[in-house]
Amino acid sequence: MMTLSLIGIGCGDPAQLTRAAVQAINAADLVLIPRKGTAKSDLADLRRTICADVLTNAITRIAEFDLPVRDAREADYRKGVDDWHDAVAATWSQTIADHLGGDGKVALLIWGDPSLYDSSLRIARRLDPLPKIEVVPGITSIQALCAAHALPLNDIGEPFLVTTGRRLCEGGWPEGVDTVVVMLDGGTAFQSLDPDRIHIWWGAYLGMADQIIMSGALADIGPRIVTARRDARERHGWIMDIYILKRRP
Ligand SMILES: C[S@@+](CC[C@H](N)C(=O)[O-])C[C@H]1O[C@@H](n2cnc3c(N)ncnc32)[C@H](O)[C@@H]1O
Repeated sequence: MMTLSLIGIGCGDPAQLTRAAVQAINAADLVLIPRKGTAKSDLADLRRTICADVLTNAITRIAEFDLPVRDAREADYRKGVDDWHDAVAATWSQTIADHLGGDGKVALLIWGDPSLYDSSLRIARRLDPLPKIEVVPGITSIQALCAAHALPLNDIGEPFLVTTGRRLCEGGWPEGVDTVVVMLDGGTAFQSLDPDRIHIWWGAYLGMADQIIMSGALADIGPRIVTARRDARERHGWIMDIYILKRRP
């Protein structure tokens, strides 16, 4: 039977790798590394660096594959994602068949942690035959952001909510919480809010050499984040950023 290990590798700093992750990488017969196109080659590079740094098992092989691209023209978002997951599962199966056959241990290095805004677990359950699935937890971008700002995520005894830039834009400030974490924001969705009484803690490229963090009252710092984000995106060709908003009574 095949075992598939989804290994959280943290979100940019190889030092975030846990000992359990190092053990799981070395226990694999095959490590799969996705290529996501030239703009995001830094992300594949981090996975290659991690393998070069921690792999001591001579038997472990590494196979790279081109990650299928989601069809953004599909009007039905859920169907677009569903089709894309099928395509990724087919690519994993083909790459595994080419390099390993039906038996053995396959590892996938997952950005951050596999439980947070990541579909690897959903895709793994589409494989036929279904492998034994293992998860090794990793440091999430939420933890990296809080650490970079030395910020406690929740206020005492209070809940928080994690959402996407799209949902914040469409629905405004979510009901029932005063702390909101925003991920996967293709733009700057915080600009859709009335900034009064809102504080922001923002971070881009967390854990990487070019990490940028900024924080302050949204009314003051928001426009500066917009400019910094645009400039950084132009320089790198891509950006990954995340922020926490807190509303004060
Ligand atoms: C597809 S989700 C993956 C999240 C990941 N599984 C985790 O545990 O953090 C990608 C989003 O995570 C956030 N993110 C991941 N790594 C980041 C980093 N190094 N710096 C800033 N944001 C990051 C961004 O909001 C990005 O749009």
